[in-house]
Amino acid sequence: MDYTSQAETVVTSDIMTPAVIIDTHTVQKNIDKLQGHCDQHGISLRPHIKTHKLPSMAQRQIKAGAIGITCQKIGEAETMADAGIKDILITYNIIGDEKLHRLAKLAQRCTLSVVADNAYVVDGLAKTFVRADHPLEVLIECDTGANRCGVQSAEEALGLARLIHNASGLTLGGLMTYPPMGDQVRVNNWLKQAKDLLIANGLPCPKISSGGTPNMWRSQEVSVATEHRSGTYIYNDRSLIQAGLCRIEDCALSVRATVISRPTDDRAIIDAGSKMLTSDLLGMEGFGLIKEAPDVKITSLSEEHGILDLSNSKWSPKVGDQIHIIPNHACVVSNMVNHVYLVNDNHIEKTVVSARGLVT
Ligand SMILES: Cc1ncc(COP(=O)(O)O)c(C=O)c1O
Repeated sequence: MDYTSQAETVVTSDIMTPAVIIDTHTVQKNIDKLQGHCDQHGISLRPHIKTHKLPSMAQRQIKAGAIGITCQKIGEAETMADAGIKDILITYNIIGDEKLHRLAKLAQRCTLSVVADNAYVVDGLAKTFVRADHPLEVLIECDTGANRCGVQSAEEALGLARLIHNASGLTLGGLMTYPPMGDQVRVNNWLKQAKDLLIANGLPCPKISSGGTPNMWRSQEVSVATEHRSGTYIYNDRSLIQAGLCRIEDCALSVRATVISRPTDDRAIIDAGSKMLTSDLLGMEGFGLIKEAPDVKITSLSEEHGILDLSNSKWSPKVGDQIHIIPNHACVVSNMVNHVYLVNDNHIEKTVVSARGLVT
């Protein structure tokens, strides 16, 4: 598919609110900064595209030096393969005949790897790929403390590694984890113990994939890892400002909204509600950071209305004023809209978010 045909040049007055605006200078700075960090420490970077869902952004990341991309869902991976992305890791247990069939077709047009954390998943993959031209690479997902998916011990990893290694359509890629924030030493010890056990039992463990934006500047502390997967770093968001991991000016994505009502002196209503900003609080108060008035809280949302509390602020926007909001969580906002606007100094491009809504 030609993704350039899904982009059109527009002028600022064409942008109807609410709209997602992406500052491409800041995007490039964020990409280059993390790529530089990974290069400096000899870690391969495999960005997660769930944050942007845009082939053009994945291509920027690869051009800067990323070895490939991470996707969570087959639909995302299919879209990225359509755009010519060659190396894709899907970090999700794939279950069900239809999805396995799609996976087999996808594997014919890119270098594909997947993860598994249980025998049921390995069995489905093994049956699907038994007669494939190339074996499918499978990494074992490990729960190193984030309490999501993943085998619970090195011994459990060994059991699954044997199953993968002995399946004729599969090849054992190594280990993968989505780590908890902060505890790099524990994550490293966990993975090292599992790797050592695999090797002591004559099994290969060529790759160890860790990740996360909160951990990215300390990715080298998981010294056993060969690659790092970050997603949110490309845009950043309010949750990362709150965690002290970036500044307002590092946030590339904002929601442009219009003040549509001033029912009282201390209340303003904007045209962005939960269908734009989403209900994600990520432990914070309020539904985003207003760049024009950081002291003003977006106290509540209905689907298409955002309610601003002006009682503690001198700022008094008028009906018709436009504001820009850094959302609490950028990745979910990307999934809410058909188009985003890519903006730099003198150019605005309206682009289709081609992988939005692809959750299977
Ligand atoms: C498996 C996996 N890898 C990488 C990432 C990227 O993490 P972040 O959003 O912290 O950059 C995620 C995020 O959910 C993930 O689930």
